[in-house]
Amino acid sequence: MARTTTGIAITGHGVWHPPSVLTNDELVAGFNEFVRRDNARHQAEITAGVREALKESTSEFIYRASGIEQRYVQDKTGLVDPERMCPNIPDRPEDQLSYQAEYAKHAAMIALAKAGRAGEDVDLVVLGASNLQRLYPAIAIEVQDAVGAKKGYAFDVSIGCSAATGATIMAQQAIQTGAAKCALVVVPELTTGHMNWRERDSHFIFGDASVAFVVEPVERAKPGAWEILSSRMMSKFSSNIRNNAGYLDRCDPSTEHAIDKLFHQHGRRVFKEVVPLAAKFITEHLQSLELAPSQIGRYWLHQANQKLNELVAEYTLGRKATREEAPIILDEFGNTASAGSLIAFSKHNEDLAPGTFGVMSSFGAGYSLASLVLRRM
Ligand code: COA
Repeated sequence: MARTTTGIAITGHGVWHPPSVLTNDELVAGFNEFVRRDNARHQAEITAGVREALKESTSEFIYRASGIEQRYVQDKTGLVDPERMCPNIPDRPEDQLSYQAEYAKHAAMIALAKAGRAGEDVDLVVLGASNLQRLYPAIAIEVQDAVGAKKGYAFDVSIGCSAATGATIMAQQAIQTGAAKCALVVVPELTTGHMNWRERDSHFIFGDASVAFVVEPVERAKPGAWEILSSRMMSKFSSNIRNNAGYLDRCDPSTEHAIDKLFHQHGRRVFKEVVPLAAKFITEHLQSLELAPSQIGRYWLHQANQKLNELVAEYTLGRKATREEAPIILDEFGNTASAGSLIAFSKHNEDLAPGTFGVMSSFGAGYSLASLVLRRM
């Protein structure tokens, strides 16, 4: 069988999340109080028919529509405060580690320990995240310094929910070219800052978490590591998932704080378009390696929405996947943007025997898609 390999492996992985848990019931209680107060404030306009009353949210809808039961959040005091509806995350002075660098460092130290490496072994840091708290200095360079990496280079990539798989592929490719030997991929998804907590269609979707990989040539990998046989990326422009926040915002005071500067989406359209796109993308990638979908021991899919995940797996396999074949972590974590498929991998790979094939795949805003076909060493 024609089988390729990149000669590169994932040798360590680590997951970290903030300690604070936000259940659906807590989220809904805070949101509904906001709705009642907002409607009371605008009672006259609502009665006059010039303003639509806001509708309440329910935990039942959230679970049924998404499979999410809870999420970890950086701060919940602000999220459940009906007068605030936004996380309270105090700005930090420039001589303190920034939030995303701190998230990255927590997961990186776990991944490095797992790989049996220290920060000084690292000669490349690729940071992938759907949101970056600033553009320069690159947060990856701050992480490089924070983990004690003294050589090499670091950069940030942001391609929506494929930022983390994309960062892993960029690390793999850099090692293949000889530009680096020991890469750290860090994914600090502090997503709660980009959400519109006042919008019931999306207020339940995201959670905060961080994940990291160590990526090295197979010669340096120990048994149990995951060889990257092949990787692929694709993108196709769509505005269906979008956030317009950016450095030009203050240049137009009339729209500076508009709600399109937060996450917004056409959820139904995304669902309809992304399921066939992702299934075709994964299937064609496997075909190129002469692998049948049924030969894959595990699918670590982007954790957007349980129904969406289940359908992508079903379209790929031609039958429903079991929970073991396509594990779900979003019940506990919510949608952690690009971190989801890497967290699913980190939490659900150690039971698999050497020689088992696995697929890690993401699909999200952009649209951006990426997949890695792996084999356990
Ligand atoms: N509580 C109660 N009802 C709610 C609600 C809430 N929090 N949010 C929406 N509803 C209502 C809607 O208003 C609508 O009511 P209507 O039929 O009277 O108009 C109904 O529930 C269905 O809403 P809809 O938005 O069509 O639900 P859905 O089944 O499409 O699920 C998503 C919504 C977002 C979960 C789903 O579209 C989705 O997952 N899409 C994929 C998007 C995605 O994964 N994006 C990834 C970002 S990285």
